[in-house]
Amino acid sequence: MFFKKKRDQLRQMAESVPSWWHSIDLGRGVVTPGAKPAADLGAELAVLDLPPLKGKTFLDVGAWDGYFSFAAEGCGARRVVALDHYVWSMDLVAQVEYWQECQAKGIVPRPYETIPSIWRPGELPGKRGFDTAHAALGSRVESVVADFMTMDLDELGEFDVVLYKGVLYHMENPFAALRRVAKVTGELAIIETAAVLVPGFEHCAVWEFYEADELNFDPSNWWAPSSKALRGMCRAAGFARVETVYGDPAPSGTAPGEVVRYREIVHAWK
Ligand SMILES: C[S@@+](CC[C@H](N)C(=O)[O-])C[C@H]1O[C@@H](n2cnc3c(N)ncnc32)[C@H](O)[C@@H]1O
Repeated sequence: MFFKKKRDQLRQMAESVPSWWHSIDLGRGVVTPGAKPAADLGAELAVLDLPPLKGKTFLDVGAWDGYFSFAAEGCGARRVVALDHYVWSMDLVAQVEYWQECQAKGIVPRPYETIPSIWRPGELPGKRGFDTAHAALGSRVESVVADFMTMDLDELGEFDVVLYKGVLYHMENPFAALRRVAKVTGELAIIETAAVLVPGFEHCAVWEFYEADELNFDPSNWWAPSSKALRGMCRAAGFARVETVYGDPAPSGTAPGEVVRYREIVHAWK
């Protein structure tokens, strides 16, 4: 990546996108105004504990604005593919307005893909952030617009390192999802997810199911595993060795029977 553009040009590019999720440093002091602050993203990147990527191929499933894809490119990955379709298909301004309206009325939002003013896969309004950052950075990251759960994985191919960050709990069928992650992984998959701890039941492989929008008021969240369930399901899905590299449920002080929600990251090796 190299910065050929002037500061004003970069600022205009950042301002041309109505909704950013990632705060991405475009160079010359211009950072996109993402809902996720740059410091938080830097901390998230650090705890992923990426292996050396020089010369490796890297797949970022659920890339959104591409912060982690561009980071992998910056780390010297030979080929980086940013794959997404869900938020890329949405008018994210309309989606937030609808969500706020539902919160005010105290109702659960309908699935966003059923609302024509929000769901516009023909235009990909939610991909503007990725495309703009890509152009600003002069990036060579390849983008693939596809539903990872239904696309032809033989066509996608295999990657040395796969990042599956913030996606698992959105899946209706997480076991099928992990099998698909294993299929495209050559060496290592880094899986980051919402997770649960049920104090006193740490020995149990459990998944918490979300009927509506109980997890983060987001109706597109379905399941969160306990640590044992996550690691066991990764092995059953085709990974030989699974190691938790991050996950601090801090259960102390919770009431008996209270489920603790936290984030866990595993490294799953083929
Ligand atoms: C919570 S966001 C995480 C974004 C990014 N990975 C991060 O950690 O900041 C979940 C992402 O997964 C994507 N996603 C959800 N289901 C998907 C699917 N079936 N195929 C591809 N991407 C999907 C969404 O569009 C969204 O970009």
